[in-house]
Amino acid sequence: MIKVAIMGYGTIGSGVYEVLDTNREILAKAAGQELEVKYILDLRDFPGSLVEHKVVHDFNVILQDEEVKIVVETMGGLEPACSFVKSCLEAGKHVATSNKALVAAHGTELLSIAREKQVNFLFEASVGGGIPIIRPLYRCLTGEKIEEITGILNGTTNFILTKMDKEGASFERSLREAQALGYAERNPEADVEGHDTCRKIAILTAMVTGREVNYEEIPTEGITKITDTDFKYADALGTSIKLVGSSRMEGGRVHAWVAPLMIGKDHPLYAVSDVYNGILVKGNMVGTTMYYGSGAGKLPTASAVAADIVEAAKHMNSNIPIGWSCEKLAIAPGDDMVYRYFVRVSGNFEDRRDMVEAAFGKCRVAELEGLDEFAFLTGGMKQSRFMENMEILKVELNAEYQKVLQVIRAE
Ligand code: HSE
Repeated sequence: MIKVAIMGYGTIGSGVYEVLDTNREILAKAAGQELEVKYILDLRDFPGSLVEHKVVHDFNVILQDEEVKIVVETMGGLEPACSFVKSCLEAGKHVATSNKALVAAHGTELLSIAREKQVNFLFEASVGGGIPIIRPLYRCLTGEKIEEITGILNGTTNFILTKMDKEGASFERSLREAQALGYAERNPEADVEGHDTCRKIAILTAMVTGREVNYEEIPTEGITKITDTDFKYADALGTSIKLVGSSRMEGGRVHAWVAPLMIGKDHPLYAVSDVYNGILVKGNMVGTTMYYGSGAGKLPTASAVAADIVEAAKHMNSNIPIGWSCEKLAIAPGDDMVYRYFVRVSGNFEDRRDMVEAAFGKCRVAELEGLDEFAFLTGGMKQSRFMENMEILKVELNAEYQKVLQVIRAE
């Protein structure tokens, strides 16, 4: 029997306990022996609950108990999570975490300690909630040169954007609902400003390049500027708007970014709605593969942690060579990346047709009844070219740059 400790008995931690309890036999068979939760570390007591007698408040109880071989970190945040995980690894305990902030900020060091101590630092649940994505990257796609990863990586924002798109719901109401369902971060700014997606694409980029990624170098834009009017245009154009994180590896350079993306019905991520996440991984031999499932929430995320516990149990005496080295990856500027662009401009299209065409040539145009504005969708062009064309448009619009109401990257 393997003894496990869970640090942090919030939404995910209690979910891990529930998964271990509900699927006890399945997990025991997969791990080759039974898994038992010996301790739960939390500030609270949970009187009258199933776990009451397992609760400890002192981390050292877990650290000093040699019987505890696997520690789950579901506390969230950087401290004390990082110090606790480090101490566990140094003490020769395996660690499974759902904490993407921790993995993105300290993954390099924690992976290196795990290697040195011949234990495992596992983080399947840190990206895509219940979707298997970390393991496919280091097992199934191990013979591939990965050229692109593009994903809807945040359940909360996808839930909000879906509600705005399909129900015309307000941003605030949708966010409140996502919080009530346990999808959102404690501070939802991390979701809506794109920081959570940024950390996840940084982890995936580090996984496929084998090098450390500084997530602060990834240009990141959230969804707070997306409005119901944008969705009306998207509908008129047969498209939708999703928050994506993307990394493209081309000619030895890696471009990564996080931003809203307008996509058409034929895009594989178009149908990824609500709390679901979808991740496209393009390899040089296999072509495009896609991973889909619940990107947030108690049991889906806990299920991924449970799978990591089994992975650790099956590799009790060895380190699985996963992750990245301390060699740093430079994120290249995105000037060369080719995209289309959705642009909204105030005023009547017929009055401004020449100006738009002078800057961008013929574009697909949409007008909504009752609005003194229009939108156009450009053809594909390099980001640098788009910026130049926008300057031309600005001059044509008599330098009233504020007449440009919205710009969204499109594919
Ligand atoms: N807040 C995150 C999300 C939780 O909504 O995707 C899962 O990482």
